[in-house]
Amino acid sequence: MRSVQAYVLLAALLLPFTNAVPVEEARTVDDSNMVRTPAGLRLIENVHAVPEGGSVKLVGSEIHLLDETGIVIHVATNDNAKIGSSAATSTTSAADTEESGWIAFAYWFNNVTDSVIDSFTTTWEVPPVPAENHNQTIFLFSALQPVTSAAILQPVLQFGPSAAGGGSYWAVASWYVGTSATFFSSLVEVTPGQELTGVVTLASSNGSSYDYVAEFTGIPGTSITANGSDVLLTATETLETYGITTAADYPTGSTTFYDINISVTSGAPETVWSSVSDTPDGVSASVAVQGYSNAEVVINYP
Ligand SMILES: *[C@@H]1O[C@H](CO)[C@@H](O)[C@H](O)[C@H]1NC(C)=O
Ligand SMILES: *[C@@H]1O[C@H](CO)[C@@H](O)[C@H](O)[C@H]1NC(C)=O
Ligand SMILES: *[C@@H]1O[C@H](CO)[C@@H](O)[C@H](O)[C@H]1NC(C)=O
Ligand SMILES: *[C@@H]1O[C@H](CO)[C@@H](O)[C@H](O)[C@H]1NC(C)=O
Ligand SMILES: *[C@@H]1O[C@H](CO)[C@@H](O)[C@H](O)[C@H]1NC(C)=O
Repeated sequence: MRSVQAYVLLAALLLPFTNAVPVEEARTVDDSNMVRTPAGLRLIENVHAVPEGGSVKLVGSEIHLLDETGIVIHVATNDNAKIGSSAATSTTSAADTEESGWIAFAYWFNNVTDSVIDSFTTTWEVPPVPAENHNQTIFLFSALQPVTSAAILQPVLQFGPSAAGGGSYWAVASWYVGTSATFFSSLVEVTPGQELTGVVTLASSNGSSYDYVAEFTGIPGTSITANGSDVLLTATETLETYGITTAADYPTGSTTFYDINISVTSGAPETVWSSVSDTPDGVSASVAVQGYSNAEVVINYP
């Protein structure tokens, strides 16, 4: 019992920190084969648009991309290494503009063994457009991850370019990112001040196989289905950036992830969010309201 608890505590504490960005990322910035995704720079050939109504299905050592009729249109490898997403690295030094990742975030690890998250809902407002545009990319998302961190399922708000498209405006898409294979829904433009609700739902499960959907409520085309997944145990609210050069590359003020609701298959989880901040860059995450219902996480920009 004691060792199980120790393991769980260790896993909970280490999870977001074990995902160090490979050092190579900073050097591959000029590589035209690489594209920005919410899991860092990825080889363009491993990044796939999910057609409307299509889905992603994990099948043993493969990940299948299916069209809306269920036909397999691409087969990728499902390896089990961790997602590269660094925590709280300093980004405003011009020398390392691409080196970046999870700048400020909060997370909760569901350590209840007989109860899984069946719905994770977060509301946030589209921030103002940043005062300056240096081709930076800003991702603001809620997400669920398996304990291995080998994948992430996430409704994502982005400013700037990514593999899904984008530019000097805010837009939303949902992503399922495996260790190398990366999938995204349509990218839909949104406007500053617009209220977004990102939801990840467990549609059904059978044994150790879990079927999930991530989407923005009321924004057609932004849904992504990930079937045959491992159970997703870690919830996060995250600010992730690439290519930030000055404080003016961020929006002004703060972004509050609010009405954060987690429901589980049985009972009411004891939900204690932890936050991690990039203090050198003046970006911070703090938990304003704890709990599994109506929780709040605030991201303050420099
Ligand atoms: C902006 O950044 C993206 C991603 O690194 C890169 O592909 C693109 O060429 C850049 N555009 C400009 C104008 O620098
Ligand atoms: C994905 O899972 C959902 C829920 O179990 C199911 O309705 C849907 O048919 C599945 N899609 C595929 C392509 O397996
Ligand atoms: C659940 O999984 C088992 C074993 O893989 C399979 O035989 C069964 O058909 C599945 N049930 C459903 C409802 O998909
Ligand atoms: C979150 O849960 C609270 C309390 O159950 C409920 O009042 C609220 O409507 C929920 N919000 C969303 C966005 O689901
Ligand atoms: C599970 O996590 C909660 C916080 O989310 C913590 O208070 C509790 O002690 C943990 N339980 C175990 C068995 O580690």
